[in-house]
Amino acid sequence: MAHRWKNTLTAQDVTPYSAFLNRRQLMTGLAAGGIAGALPRSAAAQNSLEPNTFEEITNYCNYYEFGTGKEDPARNAHRLTIDPWTVRIDGLVDKPGDYSFADILSQMTVEERIYRFRCVEAWSMVIPWNGFELADLLNWVGVQSNAKYVAFETALRPDEMPGVSSRVLDWPYVEGLRIDEAMHPLTMMATGIYGKDIPKQNGAPMRLVVPWKYGFKSIKSVVRISLVEEEPPASWNVANPREYGFYSNVNPEVDHPRWSQATERRIGSGLFAKREPTLMFNGYEEEVAGLYDGMDLRTFF
Ligand code: MTE
Repeated sequence: MAHRWKNTLTAQDVTPYSAFLNRRQLMTGLAAGGIAGALPRSAAAQNSLEPNTFEEITNYCNYYEFGTGKEDPARNAHRLTIDPWTVRIDGLVDKPGDYSFADILSQMTVEERIYRFRCVEAWSMVIPWNGFELADLLNWVGVQSNAKYVAFETALRPDEMPGVSSRVLDWPYVEGLRIDEAMHPLTMMATGIYGKDIPKQNGAPMRLVVPWKYGFKSIKSVVRISLVEEEPPASWNVANPREYGFYSNVNPEVDHPRWSQATERRIGSGLFAKREPTLMFNGYEEEVAGLYDGMDLRTFF
């Protein structure tokens, strides 16, 4: 079955940005509206957008089910079985059910998007994801009009996940988005990186990516998606609501109680590289600021 998960593009492990961009333009015939659409001009002008290498992206990870060290996921996640993989989609949808990952993928259009990725710990990367828009999946199952939020859940497999013996979080890892955030065209389910199936340590076979929010919102190895009326629990918010809000939009003006969010350390930039300024909504302000019109972003952090 694994071949059905293959993305259509065959990128090298490590691709210079210019070559990557050229290939995508050739593959999709998109000049504007493709990568240009995914990467706001403001962000491109201010910060370098050369993607991190495949090695960097897959060896410096947060996936606490496999340990809390940055290299633990790469070392331990091989234990995760991802074939078969079933995603339960339930709640306020027209077609609830247990869907195999292969069936989902056969209905979706997989494309490449280079996104900035900003962890709440103040490090960042640029990642060429492959995946599909979450909105396409939600529209496929039919969202009912009273659905206000989307709840997500990661697999919980104590036999395969050495990290869940620790009580650092309440397992399973859960997350949530407001429905308009979930339906936003930048919000994707990632199934690949650099044209390869997404590695297990990065959330195989399918993980959420919300590029304007801190990385912990981008929940990995999703097994359940529920459309609900009330704001669902989110693991880090439950663990420490003072430090991690439900929204967790990247905001250089709202510091974490224990560190500044004004700047970030770009992974791979070298020990003595200057920190880069963190951009409002991680550089996606033009696209997403309207979602939060009239909201006090300090209160709803
Ligand atoms: N999802 C699960 N299930 N478990 C986790 O520990 N960590 C989050 C997020 N998704 C995490 C998770 C955090 S803190 C970050 S920064 C990103 O995944 C890291 O994604 P990456 O390792 O692919 O860079």
